[in-house]
Amino acid sequence: MKAYQLIGHNSLDALKLVDLPGPKVVSNDVLVRIHANSMNYWELVILRGGYARNQKIPVIPVSDGASEVVEIGENVTAFKVGDRVAGTFFRDWVQGAPTEDMMNTALGGGIDGMLASYVALPEHAWVKIPEHLTYEEAATLPCAAVTAWNSLTTGGLIPGQTVLTLGTGGVSIFALQFAKLFGAKVIITSSSDEKLERTRALGADETINYRTNPEWQEIARSLTDGIGVDQVVEVGGEGTFSRSLSSARMGGYIGTIGVLTGFGSGGLTPASVFFNHLRVQGIYVGSREMFEAMIKAISLHRLLPVIDETIPFAEVKRAYELLEKGKHFGKIVISHS
Ligand SMILES: NC(=O)c1ccc[n+]([C@@H]2O[C@H](COP(=O)([O-])OP(=O)(O)OC[C@H]3O[C@@H](n4cnc5c(N)ncnc54)[C@H](OP(=O)(O)O)[C@@H]3O)[C@@H](O)[C@H]2O)c1
Repeated sequence: MKAYQLIGHNSLDALKLVDLPGPKVVSNDVLVRIHANSMNYWELVILRGGYARNQKIPVIPVSDGASEVVEIGENVTAFKVGDRVAGTFFRDWVQGAPTEDMMNTALGGGIDGMLASYVALPEHAWVKIPEHLTYEEAATLPCAAVTAWNSLTTGGLIPGQTVLTLGTGGVSIFALQFAKLFGAKVIITSSSDEKLERTRALGADETINYRTNPEWQEIARSLTDGIGVDQVVEVGGEGTFSRSLSSARMGGYIGTIGVLTGFGSGGLTPASVFFNHLRVQGIYVGSREMFEAMIKAISLHRLLPVIDETIPFAEVKRAYELLEKGKHFGKIVISHS
């Protein structure tokens, strides 16, 4: 089968298109043919060698794939040939609190991922995808969407509350869409006025250009009558974290998710956490249970993921380059057809 393998770090030269033997199906394995993948900032972290857990090398990269079941092991009960499925980000995090062993099964990091023609994983690592979505659309869900869902639901979002989400990448656009499903008010930031205009079309209530308004946290507060937002979807990391804390209301919640501003780029301010009774929660994608709950909501509301561009499998390197440029809005997808 065709697959991409990362054989080293730091350069796209380390990404090779290779021919590998097809996966064998045993016991409770489900073998799928991949139709589409989606790219996450995670792929850049892996490419740059910045993954702090059990990085496998060589590794088939990319956590997200949507696919069709082509063979099942003799003990599989939940799936049949022809089912449309996506894999979970962590192969073994099914439900409840995660363990270190479960965290070591991140697809495309600790174990092989989805950038291949065929993938076999145990049945607990698959979910059925919403019927109204194409494979390309469903491929956007395993990482970015589950992360946004986990952050908002763990924060206990209720109608009428205000969510601040940063930038217009994969996680943030799903956070915007889900927060609107929950009946929340959404404030979103971007470096681009044109992208902010597009977020309005998706339901954003208030928009802030963080380039032209470097003190965006003050604007976020002013948009909540000086009280502060109930939740922040914190994808920026060190360079935005202090401002995110300042944006939140007394007792507010910060889902700490991302590293878009890199490392060593800004001071953290732990004192303001206790001073303002904040809840800072680390979010690392989510379990299959969360994925399935999210799929129910997506199916009921016929929510459509936002795809910026679809790149053919043969041109995967271009997808990495586009991701790196950060000009996309929502998701970049890879199609195998
Ligand atoms: N913890 C987890 O489980 C988890 C899961 C998924 C992702 N993540 C992390 O979350 C972050 C986002 O991931 P993603 O896949 O959504 O990334 P992505 O799609 O590549 O997001 C790119 C967008 O981020 C925005 N951005 C860049 N610098 C920013 C800044 N200083 N302030 C605000 N926005 C900024 C830009 O939006 P504009 O062009 O609009 O400015 C850019 O288009 C990454 O750090 C990723 O590693 C973590």
